[in-house]
Amino acid sequence: MRRAMPGIAVLTAALMLAAGLAGCTASGAAPDGTATAGDGIGPITFAIGKDNSSWLPSIISGWNQGHPDQKVTLLLLPEAANDQLAQLVANLQAKSDLYDVIDMDVIWTAEFASNGWIIPLPQGQFPLGDFLKPAVDTAMYQGRLYAVPDYSNADLLYYRKDILAKAGKQPPRTWAQLQQLAKTVAPKYGLYGYAGTFAQYEGLTVNFASAVQSAGGSILSPEGTRVTVNSAPALQGLQFLVDGFQQGWIPPVALTYEEESAQDAFADGRFLFLDNWPDVYAALSKQDSPVYGKFGVTALPGPAGMGSSSLGGANLAISSYSQHQRTALDFIKYLTDLPNERQMLETGSFPPVWTQLYTDKSLIRSHPYLPVLEQAINSARPRPAITNYDQASLAISSAVYQALTQQKKPQQALTEMAGQLTQIIRDG
Ligand code: GLC
Repeated sequence: MRRAMPGIAVLTAALMLAAGLAGCTASGAAPDGTATAGDGIGPITFAIGKDNSSWLPSIISGWNQGHPDQKVTLLLLPEAANDQLAQLVANLQAKSDLYDVIDMDVIWTAEFASNGWIIPLPQGQFPLGDFLKPAVDTAMYQGRLYAVPDYSNADLLYYRKDILAKAGKQPPRTWAQLQQLAKTVAPKYGLYGYAGTFAQYEGLTVNFASAVQSAGGSILSPEGTRVTVNSAPALQGLQFLVDGFQQGWIPPVALTYEEESAQDAFADGRFLFLDNWPDVYAALSKQDSPVYGKFGVTALPGPAGMGSSSLGGANLAISSYSQHQRTALDFIKYLTDLPNERQMLETGSFPPVWTQLYTDKSLIRSHPYLPVLEQAINSARPRPAITNYDQASLAISSAVYQALTQQKKPQQALTEMAGQLTQIIRDG
């Protein structure tokens, strides 16, 4: 357990008075009924997935310089969302105070809030009206704010604009165009066709969900109470991916790809197309990248025009077991303020949650895909906000993987997935 720092009690009392917080109960409801964090002040640990943290070091040192008694230590979690979840859950179930602020994937809010692992936050203290609405919605559980949107996400299509120009082609707007270019143009220039995060984990659920939605289908009803995946549009979406592997325009190596390996393969110049998150833009835009100046970014294609992305992203939550919740709250305010969100976009190309940054002229000059990204986020579909989402996602990614590796026919995979999801929802 962490020790309180000397002098903290005095400091706490002084700060509470200064902030007009005297009289609040610790970690619960303030006298006026609004949620509030506890009043502990001191050093904190911020846990975040390692591949989502590139923009943080200078922002954290800015905080640490101004807050010598409330220093933030970065704790890097594994790359894959499922592995991050396993580590977080193990600690939270043990009521460990190891994490104070958690960068929580948008899909975990219901599970963390319903288990009491994170505290409700004082909604009125954040400029939520200035944030992207879909991102704010992912931070709510049963009408209360449990986390503050940190960055949003919608998967986009990266393409080699130099190769398409040589071939006299435009970026694809439909699946048929993408398939044709991946099959014919890519091999002519010594490239593979198309990659996404097709390893068996959350990234595969994301790719499958995007394909199903792009064909007009869904996996569950919006409230997560009904299974809708055993349908013609879902089959069309799955078939699109299965065809890629069967016809060879998605190579088998893509079955091992998570975010970073997929990004590296495209960055090394091995693929014509890549479905991935917007932060890939920062990596490809480094002057020493082999594809520097040679790639473009656009919306995902669908069967008959623009497709539909999966809504990703992360929200900042405070652990119920944190001893320094007041510092955690102040740090979250700092991290999500306008200048730091702007810096997050500029250095890491993570999609900010402040709406106004998407129409900022100088940012559009440096990140020309911003209007496309804003549209993709606003039309993206969230993954179901159910408390046992992780179980549902494992059932989805495992069935999809079996179809992609031809162990099951697409229809059989969907039927089995639907059966398992029905049971998971019933038990949840
Ligand atoms: C990104 C997204 C997150 C998603 C994960 C899947 O980190 O922001 O929402 O679950 O990728 O791999």
